[in-house]
Amino acid sequence: MKRIKVSFAGLEVEFVDRERALEQVREFGERGTFPVYVVYGPEGCGKTAFLKQAKAILEEEYGYHVVYANPLAKKAEEVLQYSPSAEGIVKEVLSATPDPWGKMVDVTIAVAGWIMKRLRRSRVAVLMDDIFQAVGVENAEAYVKALLNLIEWPPAEYDRVVVLVASSEGVTRERVGRHSWATIKVMWNMAREGFRQLYEQLPGPKPPFDEVWRLTGGNPRYLENFYKVGWGVEEVVAALGGGKGLVGFVYSLSDVERQILEEAVEDPDVLLKRYREAKSLISQLTEKNLIIEIGDRKPFLWIDQPPPERDPELGIGRYFAWQTPLHREAVRSALEVTRK
Ligand SMILES: Nc1ncnc2c1ncn2[C@@H]1O[C@H](COP(=O)(O)OP(=O)(O)OP(=O)(O)O)[C@@H](O)[C@H]1O
Ligand SMILES: [Mg+2]
Repeated sequence: MKRIKVSFAGLEVEFVDRERALEQVREFGERGTFPVYVVYGPEGCGKTAFLKQAKAILEEEYGYHVVYANPLAKKAEEVLQYSPSAEGIVKEVLSATPDPWGKMVDVTIAVAGWIMKRLRRSRVAVLMDDIFQAVGVENAEAYVKALLNLIEWPPAEYDRVVVLVASSEGVTRERVGRHSWATIKVMWNMAREGFRQLYEQLPGPKPPFDEVWRLTGGNPRYLENFYKVGWGVEEVVAALGGGKGLVGFVYSLSDVERQILEEAVEDPDVLLKRYREAKSLISQLTEKNLIIEIGDRKPFLWIDQPPPERDPELGIGRYFAWQTPLHREAVRSALEVTRK
């Protein structure tokens, strides 16, 4: 199988590991997806890289016509990607849509419909990356429904359809999950050995692997960030906390919430144990992409490997987990600042 090249910390590296996830893509390729599969996961865990690798597998091993959209991508060429077989249709849809670049999600859905109409009984894959921020959280459900319609009420007969949506906007998870329109799957940070392969590709002197693992919990984006700042822990934690406005957030909490948060830094499962009092706190921690609800570890609910059953060192509980140990550190530091 061809492993794609992804850019990582200014280098071009081969997509590493994620063996089970790639097997899962093959299963999707074999039978299509029903309903829409929505993949949530910690920020920077590798969702975009996974979708790009999925595109290559579906195209090359299963003959799918693939359209991929990432409306928030920094580089223009990454906003819309498609199989060469879809090029003509993409160009037509782009020229027929006023302001197409502002409506990338609609464009992608239209392209998939046109592929079905023009290339009868074909295999079509729609891969939507981070679309909920682009369409607005309040429209997340409507777009998932539109994607489901593509599967259930296609404009023409198709052979198979795969629809994958990736998001780190945990705040949409409940909204999207309450319908039968989507199956939610969670993708965790990288497993230790795969993560080590990335770590080893970084040039120059670096802290021992165990230390990097303990700090990042296997999150490739934060590995990248660490490397970029010359491995300064405080710098990464401060940037994370500042970006999320954690000091103000901690100040805004009630005394009970603050107390629960203090305990959650030691054990995130406190959030479940004190659920009734912690409901609003949990929503805010989810919205700020600090924690993630793990729920169940049944393999079919996960893309790739679920996290370990419990890993207090990494901030992983049975039901809730800090997105990475650094997220927990940023909260710990905001609690300290506001204690003085
Ligand atoms: N399996 C992998 N092999 C090699 N590099 C990877 C892998 N997974 C992720 N990366 C790299 O790690 C970084 C973060 O990954 P990526 O952007 O895919 O995360 P993400 O989950 O999409 O983040 P966000 O939540 O911000 O959308 C990127 O530089 C990406 O290329
Ligand atoms: Mg992404």
